[in-house]
Amino acid sequence: MGTHGWPLLPLLLSLLLCRAGPLRPGAAGLGAPAGGGRAHSPPPPGPQQEGASGPMDTKLLTSPCGHQEVRPLILGGWESVPGRWPWQALVMAKNGLFCGGSLLSRHWVLSAAHCFEKVPEVSKWTVQLGELSLKSPSWSWRAHSHKYRVKKIIVNPKARGVLNDIALVRLASSVTYNKHIQPICILSSTAMFQHRPDCWVTGWGWIQENQKLLPPYHLQEVRVTILNNSRCNELFSMPIGRSLISNDMICAGAEDGSVDTCNGDSGGPLVCEEKGRWYQVGVVSWGMGCGHARRPGVYTNVSSFFPWIQLLMSCTAPRPGLFLPLVFLALPWVSWLLCPS
Ligand SMILES: *[C@@H]1O[C@H](CO)[C@@H](O)[C@H](O)[C@H]1NC(C)=O
Ligand SMILES: *[C@@H]1O[C@H](CO)[C@@H](O)[C@H](O)[C@H]1NC(C)=O
Repeated sequence: MGTHGWPLLPLLLSLLLCRAGPLRPGAAGLGAPAGGGRAHSPPPPGPQQEGASGPMDTKLLTSPCGHQEVRPLILGGWESVPGRWPWQALVMAKNGLFCGGSLLSRHWVLSAAHCFEKVPEVSKWTVQLGELSLKSPSWSWRAHSHKYRVKKIIVNPKARGVLNDIALVRLASSVTYNKHIQPICILSSTAMFQHRPDCWVTGWGWIQENQKLLPPYHLQEVRVTILNNSRCNELFSMPIGRSLISNDMICAGAEDGSVDTCNGDSGGPLVCEEKGRWYQVGVVSWGMGCGHARRPGVYTNVSSFFPWIQLLMSCTAPRPGLFLPLVFLALPWVSWLLCPS
């Protein structure tokens, strides 16, 4: 069952194949000085409707979410346009390491756990929102004003290499939404997206196995098919009864390897649209090389971490459930036990 019989293989793979990417040191200005604060008064927190429903009885984490206001005329290109993926976050460390991420609410960004292995210190990280380029010019006021300091990095406690490869980043101040900055929806089940050929993954990672992103370092987008896990294990030629891909992972790409994510895309979102709203299905996690036939990209299954994400986000959200006496009694204890201090 799952990868539990094979914990070492993914672990070893992760050393080589995790899709975190270093930025070339000394490369063109990385926006405003890292750690730069923000100077506007925070707007009121967004509505946090716990238990709101998504498509087909699934639970939705927050609402509103998943609205894409910018719709390009031409689909299928490789370079994105500003505002098309308004939840895309750039999670950057001072040493030039970077990962992708996705905005879940005014305070939370979702990313991959392995992104924070080398640089665990919170103070070294910032989150850039609303920018198309990996390297926004240092004089850009817009980029500077949408760059957030990080208050906390919560790596999934069970994360080990590429297992449970998911982390939440709590921002130090509240995000202002606009046309280019919007949260993505998270669902308790994403089973309805299985086999969908029209999902998308975005990132500033390498554009080929040996090719870094080139100037102007624009966000890349690629359309992928969500494969089921039995097919994915088959593609990875796992012996019968063994599975490399557990239920906590999702495979996507193309069987012929024509579309894939690569180094530097880690932590970024795999999203699908349903009735005009966008939902995050996966977090870019690992792969064997990039763009090889029969080696689809492997993503963290976001909905299998739905309860964990929901719990952590509710730790800091206003608690509308307080009128229930039982909840009233239980919540402080639950928070005390489970919420990170
Ligand atoms: C998984 O996908 C393969 C190929 O697309 C298909 O043949 C198979 O029936 C699917 N299995 C399940 C359980 O959905
Ligand atoms: C992802 O996780 C959800 C919730 O645990 C589960 O229902 C679903 O089958 C998983 N998806 C895959 C592809 O394993």
